[in-house]
Amino acid sequence: MSQRKPVMAGNWKMHKTQIEAQAFVEALPKAALNEDAVEAVICAPFTSLSTLQNLLKDSQVSLGAQNVYHEPQGAYTGEISAGMLTALGVSYVLIGHSERREYFQENDVLLNLKLKAALEAGLNPILCCGESLAEREAGGFEAKILRQIELGLSGVQMSPSYQQRILIAYEPIWAIGTGKTCDDTEANRILGLIRQQIARMYGEDTAKAMRLLYGGSVKPSTVASQMAQPHIDGGLVGGASLEPASFAELIRLCAEHGR
Ligand code: 13P
Repeated sequence: MSQRKPVMAGNWKMHKTQIEAQAFVEALPKAALNEDAVEAVICAPFTSLSTLQNLLKDSQVSLGAQNVYHEPQGAYTGEISAGMLTALGVSYVLIGHSERREYFQENDVLLNLKLKAALEAGLNPILCCGESLAEREAGGFEAKILRQIELGLSGVQMSPSYQQRILIAYEPIWAIGTGKTCDDTEANRILGLIRQQIARMYGEDTAKAMRLLYGGSVKPSTVASQMAQPHIDGGLVGGASLEPASFAELIRLCAEHGR
């Protein structure tokens, strides 16, 4: 049994209105809402966060956002600060999802500022990394991933609390939304390299304590064998987190590794 508590994080991306978010929680089985052997998180669009906070406040499911701006306040039209999120009861935030990096030109320097602002405000950041198909085929992509981790965490003074609060998600871009999951042993190999990188930056104890997630076409039918890999401590799930029954099943299967 792993000492690291498993994590099952759903990323709804740009899906669900407030009403649809409410219907999702109402349809979620009680067992999923009350499961405490896993850290279950829903990363929802900003527009549904307040509704979800009310519906989830007595459950074990935590609330996450998909983006944050690093400045605390000011003339940044369209942006949302970490303090605004914590005031809503949000506890997690995705940092550097490949869709943010690709479509919104978010680079490692900006993402490092966001990660630090999230930590200072009390949010748990989920730092995302991963390679494109072209990068994988060109070879040497592992160095890019390790650099995303090094730059993303640059200047972060690690502490026992941060070891628990910072999550890292490896999401190969070619596996996102394609139905093509990365081979379990390959995902485990990359997460093992990420763990070694953390050990180089912060020492073995931190590397052993931190939770590393895999994302990319995770579904109920794939999650058990993924969770059985020694370096995979949880999942970051898009499509399969949108249906209550499938998200509940992911939570249940993930929790089995936490008992
Ligand atoms: P899918 O699970 O739909 O492949 O999405 C993965 C993802 O990008 C989660 O952040």
